[in-house]
Amino acid sequence: MAQIIDGKAVSAAIKEQVRDEIARDNIKAGLAVVIVGNDPASRVYVNNKKKACEFCGIKSFEYALPEETTMEQLLELIDTLNADKNVNGILVQLPLPKQLDEKAVIERISPKKDVDAFHETNVGKIMIGNYSFLPCTPAGCMELIHSTGVSVAGKECVVIGRSNIVGKPMAMLLLHENGTVIVCHSKTKNLAEVCRRADILVAAVGKPNFVTADMVKEGAVVIDVGINRLENGKLCGDVKFDEVSEKASFITPVPGGVGPMTIATLMKNTLTAAKIQKNEQ
Ligand code: GUN
Repeated sequence: MAQIIDGKAVSAAIKEQVRDEIARDNIKAGLAVVIVGNDPASRVYVNNKKKACEFCGIKSFEYALPEETTMEQLLELIDTLNADKNVNGILVQLPLPKQLDEKAVIERISPKKDVDAFHETNVGKIMIGNYSFLPCTPAGCMELIHSTGVSVAGKECVVIGRSNIVGKPMAMLLLHENGTVIVCHSKTKNLAEVCRRADILVAAVGKPNFVTADMVKEGAVVIDVGINRLENGKLCGDVKFDEVSEKASFITPVPGGVGPMTIATLMKNTLTAAKIQKNEQ
């Protein structure tokens, strides 16, 4: 039976560290969160981000824009936030309504304020291992892996999913720690067989209960990035928790696993951004 990795506890410890450093060094840090439209899931995330800012002593600035916002309006807001000295980090909640070009929006954010680490400049820096920020969700997954005491070096690591937000950067972070990394996707042949090789398995597919026990090696560390809402309103991960937890050595629950970590890393990145910008003044 697997040990359950407590994302709430690990994230609380990180937020406390951020809060203590901000208080100790009297750092002024500000995060602008931009949300466009009425996606209910995005609303929940944004509210949680605001609450975490309050806890840490980070000033949060929320910009809730209507569904029909144009590119011009959104880019103008980003330009204003890029120039605002009280704003150290800018986060535009994704997904955006379809008339908006996500890539162009991300590229408009100053790389120094890009606390999501989505900008090409930051992605490139991560690729060569010379970065200031790590993307929130993959960095949160790494913290959870570290919390198990299992070392990544030399392990077979399988990431299911190749998104720019999670799968690809996750693979890179595992590689930085000397894991042997395989990235699986919708065209992967013999997916179950590939997954069964994993000492560390990261599921970022976006399909409820996608990973079943037959895809998991005995004793594997299983990190579930999925947050899927079922028809009955309940949240469920990409991993079939009940059966996989019988086989894994460590497993993250949903909710209470990766989710809270994403926000804790965002707080950490905002503090980092504030410190860098302060030193540059
Ligand atoms: N939507 C889902 N996850 C994220 C995230 O980490 N950052 C942003 N900006 N939007 C998201």
